[in-house]
Amino acid sequence: MLCLKVPTDSAWVDEALRDIDAVLADHAHCEMKAASNALSLAARHPGDATLVRALAELAREEIDHFERVLERLVERGVRLGPPPVDAYAAELRRAVHALPHTAGGGGPLGDAAPLVDRLLVGALIEARSCERFKLLSEATGGGASPDLSAFWAELMAAEARHYRTFVELAERAAAVAADGDRGPGDRRAVVHARLDCIARVEAQVVSALANASAGASRAAIHG
Ligand SMILES: [Fe+2]
Ligand SMILES: [Fe+2]
Repeated sequence: MLCLKVPTDSAWVDEALRDIDAVLADHAHCEMKAASNALSLAARHPGDATLVRALAELAREEIDHFERVLERLVERGVRLGPPPVDAYAAELRRAVHALPHTAGGGGPLGDAAPLVDRLLVGALIEARSCERFKLLSEATGGGASPDLSAFWAELMAAEARHYRTFVELAERAAAVAADGDRGPGDRRAVVHARLDCIARVEAQVVSALANASAGASRAAIHG
């Protein structure tokens, strides 16, 4: 799916389905964090109107998702607790931060490298969520909870769109930073080489978390 290097392990869906309330509660916090990450990235680049507009639009949609997930929790009589630790996102950000800027072999991105990386990490997080919403939608469709299945499918489609938005913003950030010798094809190639490299890191993070999950609840989109 999208750029992912490893599929989610088959045990995850079973464990998530065992506690849908926990998945929804965890995901409510994910939506809130996605909105606040988009706004904090926009706040770091206030002079870039195209970037700020795209991130503000993304944040608006994530807040809408948050409200709708919260509504489902209220309907189910579940009170939203404090945000859980998101080991997946934290470890992915840490591992990517530790990568040399030239890893991936695409070439130098200069001052744009931190922004490109942050956008590509955002793309990977959206891609993994997209994959897992697809699994949940398929597992809950055709019977017991068609309404929930349709909700997962809608979130899956939104995450696929957000993945593309982040990749396009990364391509644009690289283009703005590129020297005059490079054409648009070269700049895309640099960003996609870096995306490939970060996707390999994401695969290691997701596999390590799955291996370390013995006894821990995995009823979360990043579980
Ligand atoms: Fe969302
Ligand atoms: Fe999203």
